[in-house]
Amino acid sequence: MESIVIAVTGASAQILAERAIDLLLRSDYSIDVILSKGAYEVWNSENNIQVPLDSVKQEYFWRNRFNNNKGKLTCHKWNENSAGIASGSYITKGMVILPCSMGTLGRIASGCSIDLIERCADVHLKEGRPLIISPRESPFNLIHLRNMSFLSEAGAKIVPCIPAWYAHPKDLQEMIDFMVVRLFDTLNIELKEINRWKVKI
Ligand SMILES: Cc1cc2nc3c(=O)[nH]c(=O)nc-3n(C[C@H](O)[C@H](O)[C@H](O)COP(=O)(O)O)c2cc1C
Repeated sequence: MESIVIAVTGASAQILAERAIDLLLRSDYSIDVILSKGAYEVWNSENNIQVPLDSVKQEYFWRNRFNNNKGKLTCHKWNENSAGIASGSYITKGMVILPCSMGTLGRIASGCSIDLIERCADVHLKEGRPLIISPRESPFNLIHLRNMSFLSEAGAKIVPCIPAWYAHPKDLQEMIDFMVVRLFDTLNIELKEINRWKVKI
């Protein structure tokens, strides 16, 4: 089964990435997960838990956290540039960067791939495969906006996670699920175990 690359960078809202990884696995997808160096720090700051750096330990960490053995999960360190997903010959369904920091956004826009996330994004653009970028910053400065429009012209889809009040979310979990489901709709990825009526899409 073709894999979906999930990149998590050092922007706020790590909880969205966590929910996306859990739902993708529950829906039996194969996913390759990369946390940027910055993501570990923000994860710790938002959840008070240190995500293991070691890829195998990290796979156990996610499995235990979700109590979920479905799907296929492969974790990569941010500097593992020799990973299969760094090559255009590794076919994927697409890549999602959630949340995307302005740092990663800028480096992808400049074509300056230093870490595995930037390299994978570069590969998805050059191969014409879906690249979904969910930026998280407020307010945006002119450089952020120009980088986003530049990436959009290069073929990426810019999909910020913005709640919709018409969905009448009754709690934070429903709001999170709405945003994650809408994000994966752009990749034609159906997330199971989510009641779309409950989130009123
Ligand atoms: C708690 C915390 C929250 C942050 N939130 C954001 C954010 O929402 N957006 C952003 O662009 N950077 C944010 N940053 C700054 C990035 O983490 C920092 O620029 C980092 O170098 C990004 O690296 P990366 O793009 O490799 O993940 C935050 C940093 C911390 C410590």
